[in-house]
Amino acid sequence: MKDVKLKDGRKILLREMTKQDILPGGNGRCPVNCKMVIGGTLLPTDNFRILNEEMIKKYGTTAILAIDQDVIAGFVNFYPTWCPHFDLCQDEQINEAMIHLEEIRSPPPCDDPALHVRCLMVRKEYRGNHLSITLLNCLKDWAKSRGWKKIVGGGNMFSGRAQYQWLIAPKPPKPIWEKAGFVAKDFPALGLKAMSDREGARLSLEWYKSDGFPKQFPKDVNPEDPDWPMIFADYTMVCEL
Ligand SMILES: CC(C)(COP(=O)(O)OP(=O)(O)OC[C@H]1O[C@@H](n2cnc3c(N)ncnc32)[C@H](O)[C@@H]1OP(=O)(O)O)[C@@H](O)C(=O)NCCC(=O)NCCS
Repeated sequence: MKDVKLKDGRKILLREMTKQDILPGGNGRCPVNCKMVIGGTLLPTDNFRILNEEMIKKYGTTAILAIDQDVIAGFVNFYPTWCPHFDLCQDEQINEAMIHLEEIRSPPPCDDPALHVRCLMVRKEYRGNHLSITLLNCLKDWAKSRGWKKIVGGGNMFSGRAQYQWLIAPKPPKPIWEKAGFVAKDFPALGLKAMSDREGARLSLEWYKSDGFPKQFPKDVNPEDPDWPMIFADYTMVCEL
């Protein structure tokens, strides 16, 4: 539990997500499109709730929430690396994860237990307060106190400022992770490379182009830049605890 004061004086509470306030995940929902409110009428889908309840029971939580009164101003969402992996907004992945419930209940023996961050975001009206970095630092403290050895996440490289990331980036940019003490590193347990290769960067470029290109492109990124493999590179960001 931690209180943080924003630039405008609002007080934000950071705390673990509990079984009672599981984020309303599932069914294409994303905090970009819907205001997530503690105690609101938007509820998680059954499968999202069941998966998170199981993990909360076994591991304590699956998210650190930043809460303004009852509004979710931001959150970081994570799972143990051996648990099924799914995005909060992807029903298909959530439903598929249900066949792996046993992996949640019976963790494999592991000398180097690690958490995998799936989603980190801050609502538009709360950005510019370093809340993402505060959330990651809060996660680090929480994880360390529970014996986790590593946290791994993904960092997209865009140099565009935060306001553009909301629209186009599937992942927060690399500098955000670096400011929270993460470094680009291979993560063999999940087959992740410190930095994507040229082909990976090309696929990212194609993905961005297909997603409303060039309308949603950061103003300070030139898609024709000859250095595009660097601009569109994906990173695996690791923090040793
Ligand atoms: C990325 C995000 C989490 C950052 O939110 P935030 O905590 O309000 O970030 P801030 O604006 O306070 O920036 C914190 C620091 O990172 C820097 N930063 C922010 N966005 C950046 C970017 N795109 N590239 C480089 N640096 C960036 C800021 O300049 C600031 O640096 P400073 O310490 O030198 O002042 C937020 O923009 C967001 O939620 N974006 C959407 C993320 C997303 O798409 N998630 C997955 C959806 S599926």
